[in-house]
Amino acid sequence: MTLCEYKPGLEGIPAAQSSVSYVDGQLGILEYRGIRIEELAEKSTFLETSYLLIWGVLPTKEELEAFEHEIRYHRRIKYRIRDMMKCFPESGHPMDALQASAAALGLFYSRRDLHNPAYIRGAVVRLLAKIPTMVAAFQLMRKGNDPVQPRDDLGYSANFLYMLNEQEPDPLTARIFDICLTLHAEHTMNASTFSSRVTASTLTDPYAVMASAVGTLGGPLHGGANEEVISMLEEIGSVENVRPFLDDRLERKAKIMGFGHRVYKVKDPRATILQYLVQQLFESFGHDKYYDIAVELEKAVEEKLGQKGIYPNVDFYSGLVYRKMGIPIDLFTPIFAIARVAGWLAHWKEQIEENRIYRPTQVYTGLHEASYIPIEQR
Ligand code: ACO
Repeated sequence: MTLCEYKPGLEGIPAAQSSVSYVDGQLGILEYRGIRIEELAEKSTFLETSYLLIWGVLPTKEELEAFEHEIRYHRRIKYRIRDMMKCFPESGHPMDALQASAAALGLFYSRRDLHNPAYIRGAVVRLLAKIPTMVAAFQLMRKGNDPVQPRDDLGYSANFLYMLNEQEPDPLTARIFDICLTLHAEHTMNASTFSSRVTASTLTDPYAVMASAVGTLGGPLHGGANEEVISMLEEIGSVENVRPFLDDRLERKAKIMGFGHRVYKVKDPRATILQYLVQQLFESFGHDKYYDIAVELEKAVEEKLGQKGIYPNVDFYSGLVYRKMGIPIDLFTPIFAIARVAGWLAHWKEQIEENRIYRPTQVYTGLHEASYIPIEQR
């Protein structure tokens, strides 16, 4: 056996063969099943893109209608899940609530049959349908309100915003939100996707797979960064303060949230699309001074760190979009999860179709033949 060099963070080590998505980090290209993200953002919907990611092909009109219909039918959650969520502490983070509720779905849909295409489809539909309902339900219940029932006459994104705000969104907001979900749906072998594949490789149920991926997404170096971007922009407070803030941060060797990426060494193509969406929202619903701060910060970071390949990532502008929509900051990462469920499901399906359990090795750095010291002598 050849011994290979240990790479912290497994940088550059392939962890799977996958045909789900592709990134060229030097050219700033992202494709889902070969289709450029810019084209999907413009022409597709989140559910159509999910179908593409999971089944590998664009659906026909009839296939898409059937898929949308099934998802609409499965949006409601069981009363017992709602009652369980009611017992969650309202001060808890919505990502933790989502992780617990996603795992709990496995209790209610426990018949596991990974060789049966109908089981796979049922799990895909259930997870795509119920996760937004659970995120919205926790948001209302932690405010002391009853969850709102899904509305069958509304599309996927409009219905989520309706359940969240108890008010039907205007069509532009719903469309922009849907594009945001499309942009966040999949992104090759990132930490949460790797986590989903490792869990999937044990042939456990897909609800456990999603729960492990949600837990991984929540950290501030991954999906949690979009929350921290807003806190950082609020801390900067004014365009004049951008450069002193940046200098201070860099002097302390602190990271600038929403910048940098293991793969992209240019501006993340999703950040470019999101920036355009922020501008559209501001044109229709009024300007936000934090956008000016963000643009100035992007300029300043490019001057100081551009040569290192540090540019805005997907999290930099997404928070500004959600903030303008009135969404609370701690729901930004659960919304990322709603979108990424599509990618995790695509990887789950791909993993179990040609499975081998993940069992990497390690470089042992500990002792050998150490003696046991009795407790009274320590
Ligand atoms: N601000 C300042 N410097 C940075 C940043 C940043 N945001 N990101 C990377 N760098 C610097 C590092 O200090 C390091 O410099 P050095 O070589 O002089 O020591 C160099 O660039 C390489 O950085 P690493 O942290 O080693 O890169 P890695 O690939 O391990 O990490 C990560 C990538 C985690 C995204 C990192 O850029 C980061 O922490 N960014 C801020 C958090 C963030 O925005 N996360 C969201 C990522 S997108 C997503 O998960 C959806």
